[in-house]
Amino acid sequence: TLERTFSIVKPDAVQRNLIGAIYQRIENAGFRIVAAKMLHLTREQAEGFYAEHQGKPFFEKLVNFMTSGPIMVQVLEGENTIAGYRELMGKTNPEEAARGTLRADYAVNHTFNSVHGSDSPESAQREISYFFAADELCDRED
Ligand code: CMP
Repeated sequence: TLERTFSIVKPDAVQRNLIGAIYQRIENAGFRIVAAKMLHLTREQAEGFYAEHQGKPFFEKLVNFMTSGPIMVQVLEGENTIAGYRELMGKTNPEEAARGTLRADYAVNHTFNSVHGSDSPESAQREISYFFAADELCDRED
């Protein structure tokens, strides 16, 4: 079934000029990018986006990192995209990420882990609408 997910290319990857490499891997995997933009998050935006992690030991580090430089945010569309994109990313901790995944190849550590992807349909909906208005998503029935 056709699904959309929300994806971030994080500051560590943008800073190392990996936007194109990561977009290539996303497209090679068969996902269509239906919206995209570059942003430099404010503290308020980052804290709101990661509200579910408020109070966790890594929260401050996560917010500091996510506001440290520009990111790319995008919406991906395709069959089974939420699980499929998580598979492409690999586990959150790059030391546990399977060979050939984005995090295995690009992540520096558990925090500087290069990419984000929604973990459920509910998160996908919340995260997409956190950064994109409905009219910023393009139809790509190609
Ligand atoms: P992300 O998929 O963006 O969702 C939450 C982020 O918190 C996660 O990627 C990691 O970057 C970070 N994170 C989650 N768990 C830990 C942890 N145990 N230590 C450090 N950072 C973490």
